[in-house]
Amino acid sequence: MKMCRNMIKMKVSVFLVKFLWILTVCTGDTEVSCVFTERCILPCSFQIAPQVVIHWTHLEAGLGVHSYYDNQDQLQNQHHIYRNRTSLFKAQIPRGNASLQLTGVKVQDEGRYQCFISTINGNKDSFINVKVDAPVHKINIQQVENRITCSSEGIYPEPELTWSTTPPSNMDPHNTPTVQQNEMQLYSISSSLILSHSDTDLVHICTVSTPTNRKRAAWRKLAPINGSTTETIISCAASNFSSSDLVWRFNHLQMILNQSRTDGRSTVSEEWRQQVKDVSKSGDITLQDLSSEQEGIYTCELSNAEEMLITDTSVKISGGNSVNVGGIIGGVIGAVLVLTAAAVGLLLYYKKKKGQQENGTRRSSGAETMSTNFEDT
Ligand SMILES: *[C@@H]1O[C@H](CO)[C@@H](O)[C@H](O)[C@H]1NC(C)=O
Ligand SMILES: *[C@@H]1O[C@H](CO)[C@@H](O)[C@H](O)[C@H]1NC(C)=O
Ligand SMILES: *[C@@H]1O[C@H](CO)[C@@H](O)[C@H](O)[C@H]1NC(C)=O
Ligand SMILES: *[C@@H]1O[C@H](CO)[C@@H](O)[C@H](O)[C@H]1NC(C)=O
Ligand SMILES: *[C@@H]1O[C@H](CO)[C@@H](O)[C@H](O)[C@H]1NC(C)=O
Repeated sequence: MKMCRNMIKMKVSVFLVKFLWILTVCTGDTEVSCVFTERCILPCSFQIAPQVVIHWTHLEAGLGVHSYYDNQDQLQNQHHIYRNRTSLFKAQIPRGNASLQLTGVKVQDEGRYQCFISTINGNKDSFINVKVDAPVHKINIQQVENRITCSSEGIYPEPELTWSTTPPSNMDPHNTPTVQQNEMQLYSISSSLILSHSDTDLVHICTVSTPTNRKRAAWRKLAPINGSTTETIISCAASNFSSSDLVWRFNHLQMILNQSRTDGRSTVSEEWRQQVKDVSKSGDITLQDLSSEQEGIYTCELSNAEEMLITDTSVKISGGNSVNVGGIIGGVIGAVLVLTAAAVGLLLYYKKKKGQQENGTRRSSGAETMSTNFEDT
């Protein structure tokens, strides 16, 4: 221990890596970072000797993880949360390798593990400190009326969320986010800002981070445009942003298209096949045959591994189109009315004529009912 203290004193100003190495040597623990749902190896080795007994234990929880003796796995005492998730490298055991492979990593797997080895030469303990990371995958930013909300989910350990703007403004960067934890112990985080009129030209940036990982999403709103029935180009205006994926959405939910920028392949959703004409290199979309149903917010989402740029544009379909649709409907209704009136006229005429000819004795009941109905309305 004294040696350790001297070493720490000596090396205190040296690289973090060396410090961590000393820490590991001094506490005897090996640090391992595991990624949520992925596979992870907890290292453990020993001096080759016959009659190997291996016991892996999760210390804090006191759970049996994996045991091996008599040349085979012994899982009678394995806790059920490890069932089907552990294995040893059998071929490596005779070479002094007792490392444990853990699959489908869970947050509960975090903690200190003991690797106990016994051979005819004696016993040996090693300790492994397991940390679990569920990195920030995707940040959502959405504007509803004058409120803009940033959120992300499925994160571990507990994330932080901060806001900033370009150009800088005097907003509160820590807008007390709401944090929740689900049954798998993963965190979700969400924070809202109220936009004032002067904020509408700013780019709002939301950063969600854990000690090992961070993602940013920038949101902005372009000036509204008038769509046309023939051709409408909606800009993504992101010449600076080097992105790997592009997604266009309508009214926040409906996906119009997505494109992998690396292979240039894009998928247009079924509902938008007819409207999507083209997507430019910079991400601008060309739409055709828009009707008033396609009036709303168009969102361009550009993303790469670290960042996402979200651009909202509100599109109004110019009066002409809706009037045209209205005109057609009006025309149809008008035509129906004219025809109806003509039919009524004809019926009344025949009724009168019949009445005159047969003096009201024999009547076509069908025509009678019909004409009465029309007269009533
Ligand atoms: C044990 O074997 C596995 C599988 O070959 C390997 O990944 C691991 O690094 C080995 N560990 C040690 C401590 O040698
Ligand atoms: C483990 O695997 C066996 C056989 O593949 C299966 O029957 C069992 O349900 C699994 N148990 C768990 C807890 O997943
Ligand atoms: C869109 O149309 C409205 C009215 O039809 C007009 O006032 C406005 O200037 C137009 N905007 C653009 C960008 O063309
Ligand atoms: C592009 O980058 C330059 C320099 O980094 C910056 O001045 C400019 O504002 C950026 N343009 C956009 C559209 O973000
Ligand atoms: C695009 O959408 C398709 C189908 O909805 C999906 O399979 C694919 O993973 C998506 N690609 C990207 C880059 O989001």
